[in-house]
Amino acid sequence: MKKSFLPEEYHSSIHHVLISEQEIQAAVRKTGEQISRTYEGKPLLLVSILKGSFVFLADLCRAVRIPCEIGFMGAKSYTGTVSSGKVEITLDLEQDIRAYHVLIVEDIVDTGITLQQVVKMLKERHPLSLRVISLLDKPKRRIVDWHPDQALFSIPDVFVIGYGLDCEEQYRNLPYIAVYEESSEKSALS
Ligand code: IMP
Repeated sequence: MKKSFLPEEYHSSIHHVLISEQEIQAAVRKTGEQISRTYEGKPLLLVSILKGSFVFLADLCRAVRIPCEIGFMGAKSYTGTVSSGKVEITLDLEQDIRAYHVLIVEDIVDTGITLQQVVKMLKERHPLSLRVISLLDKPKRRIVDWHPDQALFSIPDVFVIGYGLDCEEQYRNLPYIAVYEESSEKSALS
């Protein structure tokens, strides 16, 4: 791993880099161009689901070459008991979305519970259209029948950190996606 300004112990939890900074940036640029073509001439609202998607959103919106607005939502899912499927909205959108084509920007789809609920809720507000784009998708972990419209990378069932994704609020500032040490140990044992 190249020399970094981050302290050594910060790196000791990183098992390996799964998706490099260059791979992410190339995919984000390409996606920004696609979005620009798809939504040209349309009122576009990019909705970031906090906190994990803030880095992805920041890069993606600058790769979008058409006018757009930004909105933020906070959502927490309580999946301790599998059947609950309850999602708490910790921050709601300011915008009335009836006037917008909404593109939800997410960091990772895991069980699918959070986004399934958020999409259901936002559809009830009658946006002009609603699509979901996720940086990462972990299809093996899905427990509900829901999929994002687009995912930039499909990854195996490992716990990842970096580029906005955290482990106990750390590692969000890494510029790449890495496999967390403990996660790789678990998957090696199972
Ligand atoms: P879901 O409702 O299970 O799809 O939960 C999605 C949320 O779980 C994401 O927005 C992340 O905040 C979190 N999450 C799921 N997998 C990971 C991971 O590998 N690393 C960090 N956060 C994760």
